[in-house]
Amino acid sequence: MSGSNPRSLKGRIFSGIQPTGNLHLGNYIGAIRNWVAMQKDYECLFCVVDLHAITVWQDPAALRRATREVAAGMIASGVDPENNILFVQSHVSGHAELAWVFNCVARLGWLNRMTQFKDKAGKNRENASAGLYVYPNLMAADILLYKGTHVPVGEDQKQHVELARDIAQKFNNDAGVNLFPLPEPVIQGVGTRVMSLRDGSRKMSKSEPSEFGVIYMTDTAEAIRDKIKRATTDPNLLPDSVAGLEGRAEAANLLSIYAALTGRTLEQVVAETAGQQFSQFKAILADAAVAVLGPINAEMKRLMDHPDEIDRFLKRGAEKARDLAAPVLKEVYDAIGFLPRT
Ligand code: AMP
Ligand code: TRP
Repeated sequence: MSGSNPRSLKGRIFSGIQPTGNLHLGNYIGAIRNWVAMQKDYECLFCVVDLHAITVWQDPAALRRATREVAAGMIASGVDPENNILFVQSHVSGHAELAWVFNCVARLGWLNRMTQFKDKAGKNRENASAGLYVYPNLMAADILLYKGTHVPVGEDQKQHVELARDIAQKFNNDAGVNLFPLPEPVIQGVGTRVMSLRDGSRKMSKSEPSEFGVIYMTDTAEAIRDKIKRATTDPNLLPDSVAGLEGRAEAANLLSIYAALTGRTLEQVVAETAGQQFSQFKAILADAAVAVLGPINAEMKRLMDHPDEIDRFLKRGAEKARDLAAPVLKEVYDAIGFLPRT
């Protein structure tokens, strides 16, 4: 990718997903779908962040499988692996190298404010890995190793991208250089925070306690329909205005999912479904979900049956990523005052 590439005009995107379990509808709506929409206008790096995954223990065989599966999910959703850089984080050693530098830039006070660490470490903080604590520094390294300018993520990652900005700024100031851009979080559309189907106050996540709360991208059409049918609701009819969703987290979540899947605004789908019973609306929502996820699911299966095809894309992606990373890392080391490698 050269500077004259017209797609670099709007900037350079970096985003990632951890291979820590099955991809779910939150990953699709909150992240991957937006990447697909943005790939025409930006130079893009999409990464399977396996170094982040091991901040909590992973079974090696499951990690290997999930790494390919996340890559397959991205490709099946429409991420073009030929014209973007799709790769695995551990294949480019610059991520770990720059993360060390950032461990020395970020302040403990900054890390102590990170809500994801508090959530993930839970009550037993003493037993959390040191890696989980410095996780945001590695994420800053991911983005800044390529001088990324835009970071499309779900709402939950906003705080981490803001930390990456602080790190970039402090590095530039301390070294008296203008090396790193300040990356912007891009959090767009409905569904930046998809909630559990069982509990509208809990984020849909890989660690959801009830399997009925999460729609996986590998779910069959029957499983998708079944989960939507069982989704928690309230006893009222669907409202005729967005304001009528106040205090109705489950209804708001299902309508937002519907809007995201059909590419419309919340206002539009509220107008369409006003006064409907949940049972009626759930059937429509299930059709929409199956229409979107069905073909993705089929392509993921095909790719997982051809792991060599996935690995070829990932190998090429890592080569392209290394080429971009090497000069940036050199600039960083130089700015710090490390002797040049001879
Ligand atoms: P993770 O699965 O934690 O690696 O997240 C990968 C991407 O999916 C990030 O951009 C997250 O912000 C996004 N994401 C994860 N869960 C959700 C959710 N429930 N709603 C919206 N976006 C999500
Ligand atoms: N921390 C992100 C998540 O859990 C994944 C991630 C790692 C990421 N590195 C990134 C996202 C860089 C955007 C940019 O969702």
